[in-house]
Amino acid sequence: MKTVTCIEDLRAIARRKVPKMFIDYAEAGSYAEETLRANRADLAAVKLRQRVFVDVDKRSLATTILGEPVAMPLALAPIGLCGMQHGDGEILAARAAEAMGIPFTLSTMSICSIEDVAAAVTKPFWFQVYVIRDRGFIRELIQRAIAAKCSALVLTADLQILGQRHNDIRNGMTVPPQWKLRNILDIATKPNWAWSVWNGKRKTFGNLAGHVKGMENVNSLAQWTASQFDPSLNWKDIEWIRSIWPGKLILKGIMDVEDARAAVTSGAHALVVSNHGGRQLDGAPSSISALPRIADAVGSDIEVLFDGGVRSGQDVLRALALGARACMIGRSYVYGLGAGGEAGVRRAIEIIGKELDVSMALTGVKAIDEVGRQILVEDRSGNR
Ligand SMILES: Cc1cc2nc3c(=O)[nH]c(=O)nc-3n(C[C@H](O)[C@H](O)[C@H](O)COP(=O)(O)O)c2cc1C
Repeated sequence: MKTVTCIEDLRAIARRKVPKMFIDYAEAGSYAEETLRANRADLAAVKLRQRVFVDVDKRSLATTILGEPVAMPLALAPIGLCGMQHGDGEILAARAAEAMGIPFTLSTMSICSIEDVAAAVTKPFWFQVYVIRDRGFIRELIQRAIAAKCSALVLTADLQILGQRHNDIRNGMTVPPQWKLRNILDIATKPNWAWSVWNGKRKTFGNLAGHVKGMENVNSLAQWTASQFDPSLNWKDIEWIRSIWPGKLILKGIMDVEDARAAVTSGAHALVVSNHGGRQLDGAPSSISALPRIADAVGSDIEVLFDGGVRSGQDVLRALALGARACMIGRSYVYGLGAGGEAGVRRAIEIIGKELDVSMALTGVKAIDEVGRQILVEDRSGNR
């Protein structure tokens, strides 16, 4: 990992090591991928203000998220199927996050189960829930998260209906992969991946198998999602979730000021400005372009987190300057996982942390709570 200097290096290694079906799954956006591209392009368009002769000795990235101290304003986003990027992927990522002092979020659609991850770490992690039609099962899942001492529930709001990713269809994505000639030839060139997945604890969805029908071997994730996820989910259901989850609640997938206000009214403790990494509503604006208005409207009432396109510490700094309390990273750590397991995820976090530290210094800032719009050349509305 020593010659790895940036997230792009991890991406290049992951692309060599992970079978096409799963790296395509990680990289893709929905439909024409306009929103996926906008996430990156609009972040790059936010310009940082270079300042000089400011004493920036003794800097710190430490801050808090939901009142808990963190080493830097970063968390690992919920990612389905991490255990297909690397055997035991969720356990390795959770351990890396713990070692680096930031929260890890376990997806409902993980390979390792809530209990597997809880047994592998010493600090609480966050659990992300997708609400499926069988509410009895959701209650059970939330009880499992309580029993595992998860410290926050991340309720994902933007995937009750699945946006199409063309490559998942073309590749015939299944979990685990089927023994088709095309897959065998591909996996034969990825022996480290095959070894790690073969030796991993589980080969299918750890939170769902044995609890939900048809989860032992998902021939079509898209079809399963379409039949099981509940499109009737609405703000009233948040009350129900709050009645069965006593802890911190984070609503993920907020892109609109009206929805952000409703999130505050719902009693949630945080929201994530997110378009699911460009994987859902193609044609939606980039999440960085939605952030300032949401942060201005509700930032004093609720913690505003951000994700979408973060590939560097500079990107984190941009989001903080536009009102985020912290960023979640998705693909940036998935690349680390595919490239080098736990060490790869640690490297991804370390790279972003170092870039954030250096970039803060070069904008004349020493601490996270000093970061504001004053470090931007101009904000999205043309003002500084
Ligand atoms: C491969 C992949 C799987 C994902 N799975 C989930 C999931 O299970 N639950 C969820 O809430 N979001 C999921 N997301 C969305 C991420 O949590 C996050 O919003 C997104 O990755 C942020 O964009 P970035 O990848 O550009 O950092 C997934 C994203 C990717 C790339």
